[in-house]
Amino acid sequence: MELFSISMALPFFFFFSIYLCLLIRSFLSSYGRRPKLPLPPGTLGWPYIGETFQLYSRDPNLFFSSKVKRYGSIFKTHILGCPCVMVSSPEAAKFVLVTKSHLFKPTFPAGKERLLGKQAIFFHQGKYHSKLRKLVLRSFMPNSIHSRVSDIETLAIDFLRSLEGKSVDNTFLELKTYSFTVALMSIFGKEEMKYSQDLKRCYYVLEKGYNSMPLNLPGTLFHKSMAARRELGGILADILNRRRQRQMKYHDLLDSFMNHKEGLTDEQITDNIIGIIFAARDTTASVLTWIVKYLADNPTVLQAVTEEQEGVIAEKRRSLTWEDTRKMPLTWRVIQETLRIASILSFTFREAIEDVEYEGYLIPKGWKVMPLFRNIHHNPDIFPDPTRFDPSRFEHAPEPNTFLGFGNGIHSCPGKELSKLEILVLLHHLTTKYRWSLKGSSNGIQYGPFALPQDGLPIELHRKCAQNLGTRGPLGLNCT
Ligand code: HEM
Repeated sequence: MELFSISMALPFFFFFSIYLCLLIRSFLSSYGRRPKLPLPPGTLGWPYIGETFQLYSRDPNLFFSSKVKRYGSIFKTHILGCPCVMVSSPEAAKFVLVTKSHLFKPTFPAGKERLLGKQAIFFHQGKYHSKLRKLVLRSFMPNSIHSRVSDIETLAIDFLRSLEGKSVDNTFLELKTYSFTVALMSIFGKEEMKYSQDLKRCYYVLEKGYNSMPLNLPGTLFHKSMAARRELGGILADILNRRRQRQMKYHDLLDSFMNHKEGLTDEQITDNIIGIIFAARDTTASVLTWIVKYLADNPTVLQAVTEEQEGVIAEKRRSLTWEDTRKMPLTWRVIQETLRIASILSFTFREAIEDVEYEGYLIPKGWKVMPLFRNIHHNPDIFPDPTRFDPSRFEHAPEPNTFLGFGNGIHSCPGKELSKLEILVLLHHLTTKYRWSLKGSSNGIQYGPFALPQDGLPIELHRKCAQNLGTRGPLGLNCT
């Protein structure tokens, strides 16, 4: 009987002690765990649709600013099937883009990723991203692009001549040609410019699919864009083969990609070339379009820029040099003020890769996080009287993390110096040789997806009379 009760008691004690251990562990771990954090304030709207209609049925900036007014600089919403946290303070933007950037990966709609190519720089973090970034930066830093000034100048002169005396129906569309050609030259040098018409033709079909449904069925926009992408891939493969056969040294981005010591595959090179064209063209063209508008709206600023530009080449009538482009501080302030006020990229997207705590709120894993560049640029506490076009506000460097025209942190724009150069060179010739006027009502904004003046800004462009070139005062007579 005794033996029986001991043999019964042993398993009981065994299981009881395991149960006790589990109980103690669970008590200790719940004791150490943080209390559950609240989500940021805001509403998620209807199931699945969320607040998509509220955002896209009117100027998106009205949606953002009404939310900021109601909830403050961090709030939650639900857009295009995704729960999002939007942030509109410089500190929060720094947290997402700089200090904790490893916790937030870049994210794009699936269709765009397929059309650009999934090896493109935008979609990556970590080692592969920093390898690509070094290669891109190396090709677009001042010491790499300073030898390109005269080539860019030739493109700018030819481009403006092609518009002389014309009624330009859509300035943005025309400027896309200029920024596209500059991008191609920076990627391939002058060598491969004979491919530019074919590259342009394919790219124009490809880009039509960027904002379409990613439905790869015959007849759909997306299907046509995918076909154009394959053709583009074929042209790029030809260029790669020709370069390999010639075995010469070039000084352009393609050379940098092809001769990297760890090597990039052809697929990686193709995706990144398409990606750079995407990043370089519409951005630069829309900033230029806004500058054309703001200068026309602000004759005093236009006069001051023209005088600065005339001063640059006053003594010797010759072509521009890199050093000349460093003597254009006012024109550079006009570019910065345009980037601020127009905020062509109103916001950017990231995705939390784990639960993140910010200022006592939970940003759950998988949620999109959107730093709202435009709201920061239009915050009157940071930029007083924010809707006034006033380049002089950039006479002093803005406070850190408040000016995000080229982004911030590890994904900030590696093409900043190139775009600055091509804009300065174009403005040099535009202001010293041309005068222009806006056609029609010019105060609307359209988003496509970059912010643009209504209808791409129709203008009349005329060459100034020879006797008025290089003089002060009223901007010349109509000579064309
Ligand atoms: C005025 C013209 C331009 C503006 C306003 C602009 C703006 C920006 C911004 C705001 C970002 C950061 C986006 C984010 O954080 O999600 C960015 C990224 C980028 N830009 Fe630009 N950009 C311009 C021109 C260019 C040009 C000319 C090039 C190429 C030569 C270029 C190449 C890129 C690339 C490759 C990235 C992604 C970088 C990365 O993910 O590491 N951009 N740009």
